[in-house]
Amino acid sequence: MELKNDLLLRAARGEKTERTPVWIMRQAGRILKEYREVRGKLSGFIELVQTPERSAEVTIQPVDILGVDAAIIFSDILVVPEAMGLPYTMEEGKGPFFPNTVKNEADLDKLKIADEDSLGYVIEAIKVTKKELNGRVPLIGFAGAPWTIFCYMVEGKGSKTFSYARKILYEYPSFAHKLMDKITDSTISYLKNQVAAGADIVQVFDSWAGILPAGQYDDFSLKYISKIVDAITEVPVIVFAKGAYASRKSIGNTNCDVVGLDWNMDIAESRSLIGPEKTLQGNLDPAALYADFETVKSETRKMLDQFGGSKHIANLGHGVYPDMETDKVKCFIDEVKEYSSRN
Ligand code: CP3
Repeated sequence: MELKNDLLLRAARGEKTERTPVWIMRQAGRILKEYREVRGKLSGFIELVQTPERSAEVTIQPVDILGVDAAIIFSDILVVPEAMGLPYTMEEGKGPFFPNTVKNEADLDKLKIADEDSLGYVIEAIKVTKKELNGRVPLIGFAGAPWTIFCYMVEGKGSKTFSYARKILYEYPSFAHKLMDKITDSTISYLKNQVAAGADIVQVFDSWAGILPAGQYDDFSLKYISKIVDAITEVPVIVFAKGAYASRKSIGNTNCDVVGLDWNMDIAESRSLIGPEKTLQGNLDPAALYADFETVKSETRKMLDQFGGSKHIANLGHGVYPDMETDKVKCFIDEVKEYSSRN
């Protein structure tokens, strides 16, 4: 299937584009009333994720409503631990919860490597989405980075510090590496299946990168991300490691195609650390979308100027927040499109 709009893929490969492509992390779900309507007809988030037709529907909503240059498959990073043997629940307003966690070697040995059967519903959702998108824009596949998934698998829920996960890195490093290895193998197989089903590009989310010191980050997270990046040779790979300031240079040294920047990462400094080759993605402060329309536009233009108009995929510096107005989000997207076509 030939893509009608392949700006994102060309930018990811470092090619020149007529304008800067734009999409938004967490664009599906969270902000759209149309999403809440679909979810409201089902028992909740998990049923939605596991029903390919509905998941395809909410994946495409932001393409129709917001005009983004890519769709991201509606799923969650937590489907991987689930497929490995840790079921989860998702309570509204409370976030994810795993009744069982990985507490010892015996728990670790019981874990499976996620296979195609256990994640078949995501693979099917990708196939349905590709068909319904009909080549309008590329489809982004994704997975969590092993470190971020490790945090949930040992703690069982969200945390401000993930101090228990961090404790394990100091107390039982070989246990940590063994679990990371299993998550990495599961993730590689999962991403390869997403690509085979039609994902045009994939993103690895390391949401909790910023809580590790640089040395530990390189040993316990980047090493595994790098293994994933090396294994995915079929499509471009985006690495988004939130808060990994001290490791930007080493992220730039992996074989990924695109490095995602959060909103606190200085653009010029990041470019010089990462070098001229890779495409950068980001990085408007998500909270800037709470400002008035004129400020949203001027902040967007300021960001675009700093990236310099090439090797750039416009995005926020992290996911859009649930209470953001759709019109403000759309204002950001429209301004990226207009301003970057003029400059
Ligand atoms: O547009 C999209 O990106 C949709 C697909 C998507 C979801 N989660 C759907 C979702 C993606 C890419 C994710 C990634 C994800 N999930 C991350 C990494 C990105 C990041 O923001 O740092 C993380 C850490 C999670 C884990 C997770 N899932 C949490 C902590 C929560 C609860 C709070 C929240 O809204 O983030 C979820 C639930 C979740 N995942 C929802 C959605 C739309 C909200 C559930 C609902 O209200 O229906």
